[in-house]
Amino acid sequence: MSGQYRNSDQPLDSNVEASALPPAGDAASKAGASATPDHPFLRACRRLPTERTPVWFMRQAGRYLPEYRAIRRNASLLEICHTPELAATVTLLPVDELDVDAAIVFADILLPFEPMGLGLSFIEGTGPRIEHPIQSAADVETLRPVDPVTDLGYVLETIQLASAQLRDRVPLIGFAGAPFTLASYAIEGGATRSFARTKRFMYNEPAAWHELLDNLAQTVGRFLSAQAAAGAGALQLFDSWVGCLSRDDYARYVAPHSARAIELASEAGAPIIHFGTGTSTLLDSMAEAGGDVIGVDWRIPLDEAWEQAPHLGIQGNLDPAVLSAPLPEIQHQVSDVMKRAGRRAGHIFNLGHGVPPTADPERLKAVVSMVRERSVAHV
Ligand code: CP3
Repeated sequence: MSGQYRNSDQPLDSNVEASALPPAGDAASKAGASATPDHPFLRACRRLPTERTPVWFMRQAGRYLPEYRAIRRNASLLEICHTPELAATVTLLPVDELDVDAAIVFADILLPFEPMGLGLSFIEGTGPRIEHPIQSAADVETLRPVDPVTDLGYVLETIQLASAQLRDRVPLIGFAGAPFTLASYAIEGGATRSFARTKRFMYNEPAAWHELLDNLAQTVGRFLSAQAAAGAGALQLFDSWVGCLSRDDYARYVAPHSARAIELASEAGAPIIHFGTGTSTLLDSMAEAGGDVIGVDWRIPLDEAWEQAPHLGIQGNLDPAVLSAPLPEIQHQVSDVMKRAGRRAGHIFNLGHGVPPTADPERLKAVVSMVRERSVAHV
């Protein structure tokens, strides 16, 4: 893969005719003029009335799907991401398999680390590994600036291909990691439970910390806006690990940067879902930082979460572990989430975090059916 963002007038070796692709930057490919503006998912993002509750799942394209595992036997995660034809195919798998109301582009939040010069690999059974983690203030100075079109064009191309293949079936979600969650991987060098290195850097090198988060905010903000321009009808900012912070630290060290990323991302006009886990104590501050929809996990009842961000839509919040429960228990918990949302416009049904790799696709299909059966009009 060349890494170049191909325009519609360049040949594409895929089953989608090049002429079916919207020209990059064309008004019709802008999110404001999405091919599916009246889809319940996009209406719910804007808190407009819908005839039913839209549903999709974070990490809906992944190892729990046999079709994904088959593709992974011949290609690494990064190879799939770098190959738009393959990534677009994977993007569409859960739409065909589960009948969800949105597709999410197949990519990873850590991809910008490659052009930044941090070095990225995924180790089987361990997770991401950053080859050159940020260990000092000087390391922040060495980060290369990222241009979304030239450096991450393969993701934009996947969006073009996937949205052409989806036609008007369901909207496509673009995404990026939020500055804090990305900084935690860049500093820790991989996954962590304690965020000890991240916090040590934050408290001891505040100037370099703010420079790093500003750099990441600009990178992901521009990247998200480019994804909307390429055809993503909505955007999600994943601040998966921000719940490890106190309210005060979130306000001082993180919120301004998330706000900057969201402000830049909003330029293309697509609605933005602002997601985190363990954020029961941060929801009002996250809502203030920006976004049209707040994403919440299962640790807080949906109605209580919504009280903290009453002016926004809300996405969530079934515990992914419930997927391992017997069907009556799943039914009980799906109903509870929907009861708490009530008839208020703006609820998007989802899990509180990603689909576990061990999930049974049949259980996810059952959840989609339950949401459809229990759906009422939202006003
Ligand atoms: O449908 C989808 O959502 C798939 C697209 C997607 C991936 N990663 C592909 C992926 C999305 C939206 C992500 C987001 C992502 N990546 C997040 C935020 C969401 C969350 O879970 O909090 C984070 C923190 C990452 C970083 C990351 N990528 C980790 C920690 C891991 C290893 C853990 C794991 O699940 O294996 C990955 C790998 C990864 N990214 C996989 C997929 C499908 C599994 C890798 C594989 O196929 O080997």
